[in-house]
Amino acid sequence: MDESLEKKIKEAIANPKNMGELADADSMGTVGNSDCGEMLRLWVKFKEDHGRKIIDQASFQSFGCETAIAVASMATELIRGKTAKEALAMRHDELTGDLGALPPMKIHCAQLVEGALKAALEADNKKATGAPGATVVENIPSLVDSLQRDQQIAQGKLRILKEDK
Ligand code: FES
Repeated sequence: MDESLEKKIKEAIANPKNMGELADADSMGTVGNSDCGEMLRLWVKFKEDHGRKIIDQASFQSFGCETAIAVASMATELIRGKTAKEALAMRHDELTGDLGALPPMKIHCAQLVEGALKAALEADNKKATGAPGATVVENIPSLVDSLQRDQQIAQGKLRILKEDK
């Protein structure tokens, strides 16, 4: 990774914006892979503005690398004031904001953020249209609980083989 990007990431994670659960969020999306411990959850809260429903606030929690945290910090700022449609149109390389382009091996960090954002916005759309599968934000386990549950499931699939001597 080049030095200037590394510096920007360090600066972003030294003072991450919008980290933590968002009280009274309208929607939430979680993506990740508990096998490698990378999980990201993003909350979104909307408001009405001159007849448009726009994103008022967004926040995140992450079990990801520093790059994922830095991108989530940027992205939660960038989507403020956008409609769900406008935010959904943003690709992972736009969500990196001031970080700029990421090297190939770090692109999935931004895709993690993009995935969580899409999941949150799609969940809100389902809620608004009454589609099945809409998530009630209050009933969601914490990110730590989700990760532990997934790990327990994964452990349940492990078989310990004893070697016969
Ligand atoms: Fe996997 Fe960044 S989220 S390396």
